[in-house]
Amino acid sequence: AKDMGDALEKVLVTEEQIEARLKELAAEIDADYAGKDLLLVGVLKGAVMVMADLARGLSHAAEMDWMAVSSYGAGTTSSGVVRILKDLEADISGRNVLIVEDVIDSGLTLSWLVGNLRSRGPSSVEVCTMVRKPLAFDVDLDVKYIGFDLPNEFIVGYGLDYAEKYRNLPFIGTLAPQVYER
Ligand code: PRP
Ligand code: MN
Ligand code: MG
Repeated sequence: AKDMGDALEKVLVTEEQIEARLKELAAEIDADYAGKDLLLVGVLKGAVMVMADLARGLSHAAEMDWMAVSSYGAGTTSSGVVRILKDLEADISGRNVLIVEDVIDSGLTLSWLVGNLRSRGPSSVEVCTMVRKPLAFDVDLDVKYIGFDLPNEFIVGYGLDYAEKYRNLPFIGTLAPQVYER
């Protein structure tokens, strides 16, 4: 079926919960960066939804830039070796960078990205993610702003995809096993 509803199992985080949590995070970010420069860096493609909604909740006149990265190699699991598909347009030296992500799963993408951006001489690099999964605790990564800690289930929606689909669900949910177990 082409209807997204047929593929879903259950809703884990509703649209209203996402909206409320993003308001709280935006208020924290406004306070933390008051009087300072702020560059939001969204990681394509998953972070598009959270970036759009978080940024609109800020009072701060933050800037936005985007990166696209990809795990190197043919493996299905993240190897930790990352390739830049699209780099930032901004020079981040001396700037306060806040990386915006949809999900931290193994944490390997973000540990690499934080290291890469730190090497460019910014004033600060912090991370904001809508979802963190438990495997992320195994890597040494400081995540300052977290929307929701969720269990290790296959989730989609609000930017998170399965084979490039279901990113446009307005909530976060689990996919029915028959969708990917075939
Ligand atoms: C997903 C997700 C994060 C990353 C998390 O992106 O959006 O960027 O994987 O995985 P990790 O913590 O195990 O490294 P993906 O590479 O699927 O690209 P996408 O954002 O275009 O879906
Ligand atoms: Mn991503
Ligand atoms: Mg993906």
